[in-house]
Amino acid sequence: MSRSAHPAGPRHADVLTEGHYSAPAADLNVLDEKVWARTVTRDADGALTVGGIAVARLAEEFGTPAYILDETDFRARCRAWADAFGPDADVFYAGKAFLSRAVVRWLKEEGLNLDVCSGGELTTALDAGMPAERIAFHGNNKSVAEIERAVRAGVGRIVLDSFQEIVRVAHIAQRHGIRQRVQIRVTVGVEAHTHEFIATAHEDQKFGIALAGGQAAEAVRRALSLDGLDLIGIHSHIGSQIFDMAGFEVSARRVVQLLAEVRDEHGVELPEIDLGGGLGIAYTSEDDPREPHEIAKALSDIVTRECEAAKLRTPRISVEPGRAIVGPTAFTLYEVGTVKPLEGLRTYVSVDGGMSDNIRTALYDAEYSVALVSRTSDAEPMLVRVVGKHCESGDIVVKDAFLPADLAPGDLIAVPATGAYCRSMASNYNHALRPPVVAVRDGGARVIVRRETEEDLLRLDVG
Ligand code: LLP
Repeated sequence: MSRSAHPAGPRHADVLTEGHYSAPAADLNVLDEKVWARTVTRDADGALTVGGIAVARLAEEFGTPAYILDETDFRARCRAWADAFGPDADVFYAGKAFLSRAVVRWLKEEGLNLDVCSGGELTTALDAGMPAERIAFHGNNKSVAEIERAVRAGVGRIVLDSFQEIVRVAHIAQRHGIRQRVQIRVTVGVEAHTHEFIATAHEDQKFGIALAGGQAAEAVRRALSLDGLDLIGIHSHIGSQIFDMAGFEVSARRVVQLLAEVRDEHGVELPEIDLGGGLGIAYTSEDDPREPHEIAKALSDIVTRECEAAKLRTPRISVEPGRAIVGPTAFTLYEVGTVKPLEGLRTYVSVDGGMSDNIRTALYDAEYSVALVSRTSDAEPMLVRVVGKHCESGDIVVKDAFLPADLAPGDLIAVPATGAYCRSMASNYNHALRPPVVAVRDGGARVIVRRETEEDLLRLDVG
């Protein structure tokens, strides 16, 4: 997820460095289980099936492009996270990665909690029956109306993000005659992405209250002094797509230090810490994510060790994985429209979606994989760039990948690991219609978010 500087526009290809892509896999027909949802396999005819259904049938019934989500895998990942952390910790699924009413029901049934970060996500959660006490409400600028709604609904925790919000939430809670359970989000001076993290002396970002300069200690002082608030702990979120636990280690150490300071100053041992989300997944065969039980053990070891050193009772830990749960469970199914070979460069493969259904490649320079899924092929590998149908040269879905050289219009291709931050960040650019999310399970498929229609577009446009 590095963000390399390159000019957008028609000369995009010119700035690519030689050899920046890996060699093709030995057999392009083999589906690497690291990047595909768990029930994905190829049937006897070579077509990809998921949940026992062939992609051709899905394309015929639901059209393309479409996000195809493996419900069995989603539920299994929820259970794996819940089991790994056990009864003495809490897993909050980060709804920003992808949220719908069906997802809320699955989370509820599988025993997970839910982190929401807007009124819209809160409404979806409550409407689908998530018990309010299992909801955490985030955001660096929650509106008064959103806070009111969350307090009235009885959400389990509000994560306070600023000094203004401490007072705002306290005031609203007091008006409703309750003590709202809250955490304070601190910025610990650590930023982690993929395999690296940087520790900085102070934080240059909009989220949270800095530990540096005694800011967070002052926030705790204020929160403890207000009748409307029940301060249950400290929250920290350090980044995205993280594989290396070193950043969490530094973060946990600094949060525990704050807990010790709070105990020394106020005689209060705050009972919880939340270490946020950000755990990485495999987008390509080169990524090696950790399993939930390894992550749980690493985090709990770090916190236990730091608390022993500070002579504190070990607090209850919570985490907020979004991508690590939903990311690997879905793929985007596209139909190939045009194939344009450029001698000595690459072949451009245009699909019927693009940056409107996956902005991550353009926005973060994200890496994805791709496979021909309507059939197998013995043709030679060709270097491709999968692009969309938008009026923009930077409309790239997969920057560099290999597909069989006999790829042709009408073939179905799929981009795996698009469950997180693709539908949730989708747009109507060029008046594109956002694709449906189709959940598959045990031979059945159903739409959980329907495709937008031109009527939807016109309905918003009041003329
Ligand atoms: N908790 C908090 C407070 C967060 O801010 C986030 C993500 C998460 C949990 C979940 O992080 P996850 O486990 O899903 O990485 N749009 C970007 C990611 C932005 C994430 C923002 N916060 C992307 O597409 O990579």
